[in-house]
Amino acid sequence: MEPEQPSPENPHEDGHLPSPSLWPIGFAIGIVVILVGLVINPKLISSIGAAIAIVFGFLWARDATRDLRGEPVEIEPERRETVEPTAGEPSVPEAVTRSHFLEGATIGLGAVIGGLITVPVAGFALLPPFLGQKQHKVDLGPLSTFGIGEWFIATFIVDPAQGEVSRRAAFVRNNGTVTDPSTKKQVPSFTIISNRCTHVGCPTQANGPQGAILGKPTIKQRTANGPVEFVPVIPAGYGCPCHGSQFDTEGNRTAGPAVRALDRYGFEIDHGRLILLSTYSVSKVVGTGGQAQIYKYKSTGPGQHVDGPEAWWYPLQPPHH
Ligand code: FES
Repeated sequence: MEPEQPSPENPHEDGHLPSPSLWPIGFAIGIVVILVGLVINPKLISSIGAAIAIVFGFLWARDATRDLRGEPVEIEPERRETVEPTAGEPSVPEAVTRSHFLEGATIGLGAVIGGLITVPVAGFALLPPFLGQKQHKVDLGPLSTFGIGEWFIATFIVDPAQGEVSRRAAFVRNNGTVTDPSTKKQVPSFTIISNRCTHVGCPTQANGPQGAILGKPTIKQRTANGPVEFVPVIPAGYGCPCHGSQFDTEGNRTAGPAVRALDRYGFEIDHGRLILLSTYSVSKVVGTGGQAQIYKYKSTGPGQHVDGPEAWWYPLQPPHH
């Protein structure tokens, strides 16, 4: 028996196979652009990716709900029930149209449901780390609080809205004044070292006498950010109680599993008051005080190298012994 041949006028009538389409590829490219954008530029590139995914997703869904002739499917239940194929008239087109419609509708509905479920979840899970977090300025009070060359352990609240959970500590020293290389004017210089350990983030402590032992009172002030305290200290470096990392007075790592120097705070002087800005990461510091040469990097998390071969293969870590 000869196999049934498709009619030349309707070559698609043999097809139970959906016509090939580039829309799914475009949709996939859109998703890839969204993910790449999350790393590079969430606002711009991810928006472009979302637009690509939406356009191609729409075209894909529209195509999937058309029959093989490229016409929108019209469902006519009465006709389907009453029309009987006659001898010599192929019954395939009617069956193909219905099955193709169901196939397309299933795929389209699945894609919509999948998108509705996964896109918000992925957005909430992936976006926050890539979006710039709002940085709060911290008012540490008048410059007269800080005698030149004296160290203090400053504790302060970063975000008054969050209260005590945003309390942080830093080691602060007034270096006097230095010459600004661009203006050639004398400007105040401060060393402000974050106490967050660069291993896994424990609070480092100043090694050396502090507070009552020195016969100097703790200074308490109230600023726009809330209560601020300054404990006088003579540090011989800083130590981490968690795993034993040690740092010198400029924050350079000298021992232990920490991967870099301690982070530092930027600062500005506003109407005679010391204002803390956001933190930045440091690989090392050469020299001391106002003459120190600081190798700066953008703020990174504990445990992350900022230079050298380790920074290239991060988060892989060389074995520690
Ligand atoms: S967190 Fe400081 S040494 Fe581990």
